[in-house]
Amino acid sequence: MGIGRVLIVGSGGREHALAWACLRDVPDLAVIVAPGNGGTATMAENVPLDVTDAAAVARLAAERDVDLVVIGPDAAAAAGVADACTARGILVFGPTAAAARIESSKTFAKHVMEAAGIPTARWIAGDAADRKRLSAFVAELAGRCVVKADGLALGKGVMVCGNLDEAERALDECLGELRFGDAGRHVVVEELLSGTEVSVFGLSDGRNVRTLVPARDNKRIFDGDRGPNTGGMGSIAPPADASSDAFIDEVTRSVLAPCIDALHVRETSFVGCLYAGLMLTPDGIRVLEFNARFGDPETQVVLPLLDESLLEMFTACARGEVPAGVASAKPGAAVGVVAAAAGYPGDVRRGDVITGIEALDDDVHCFHAGTARDTDGTLRTAGGRVLCVTATGADVDAARARAYGNLARVHFDGMQARTDIGLPVTAGARS
Ligand code: AMP
Ligand code: GLY
Repeated sequence: MGIGRVLIVGSGGREHALAWACLRDVPDLAVIVAPGNGGTATMAENVPLDVTDAAAVARLAAERDVDLVVIGPDAAAAAGVADACTARGILVFGPTAAAARIESSKTFAKHVMEAAGIPTARWIAGDAADRKRLSAFVAELAGRCVVKADGLALGKGVMVCGNLDEAERALDECLGELRFGDAGRHVVVEELLSGTEVSVFGLSDGRNVRTLVPARDNKRIFDGDRGPNTGGMGSIAPPADASSDAFIDEVTRSVLAPCIDALHVRETSFVGCLYAGLMLTPDGIRVLEFNARFGDPETQVVLPLLDESLLEMFTACARGEVPAGVASAKPGAAVGVVAAAAGYPGDVRRGDVITGIEALDDDVHCFHAGTARDTDGTLRTAGGRVLCVTATGADVDAARARAYGNLARVHFDGMQARTDIGLPVTAGARS
């Protein structure tokens, strides 16, 4: 059976990029994005939906007779959207709630890594009753550690500590003051690693995994990796230190495939995009985290470089027949620069009119995240990260020049964008 109609669940730049890539593969595909944004509205049908209401997602898929559901956000996977769709006999690309625990429980992820021999930071886990043991471990590390809320905390549950005071304070905030609510009642404490970070996505059918080109995300709001963390201010693919075939093979062999195997053995087979957040340390690759979904904004630079049909890969994963290996990538590189709204990453202003998108070069993409359209078509800001301008080129420098040259044509009041996406990482610039 061919795939004629797809439902993509989510509303970010990631979902816009997924919809774009599926339509690149099959131009007459019918695509529904729920709830979608101002960008997906121009290429697909947006349907309002609460993505964590698994029954409602499955009902929409059944009512609209979709052939394949693609899950974007982790919250939708953790809420059991895949389980609800499968129960209705609908093909799904995205993990069950049980498999999504690889992201939604950091303790579970650490146990899986340990059992599978996947390289990661030394760690222990516990709750308030284990405080003595946690403090002893922190002391052993001289306070140079990372305290992580076990559960999903909107990407904010990770506290990087440089000394004993900071580490004890982080434990107090998590376990005592419940800064992250129930998500932080249980914590993982691990050694502080240093190095550059890389994101690698593997698409799996539960048994095999197909690896996509690596990417790097710039999470801090300001140039030079300064200021508070955000959802991501831009990204590049592939990073120079993570682009060799040997690197991609090693990540596939020592990180992605063992994780997929370990989840299969536990009878929680993982179908969907397994995202390995890696640190390249002087001692080799270490896994910082697994996510159960595509990363954003990395997806927006990875997909333009993909030289295979994404829709075919999704369908093969959902049917349990994806070929293992490394997906073909186009030569060259991609750079994506995020334009964020005034106030981001704090309280953001909404409603500013966005202009200039129609002036972008034909082969430069503007993936929308926080945008909405008035009934007359006027495009306005409607979220923190508003859009991401992504360009490809012969190398990162060429792609970077084109991305910034095109971003300069886009305007909205209060726009914030970094000027250094795609420049070499400046060691020690973090503050
Ligand atoms: P996570 O959500 O676990 O990826 O953590 C978020 C961010 O915290 C990562 O992208 C890293 O920048 C940082 N981080 C996490 N774990 C460690 C670690 N063990 N050592 C140093 N930095 C870390
Ligand atoms: N780019 C980081 C994330 O998607 O979690």
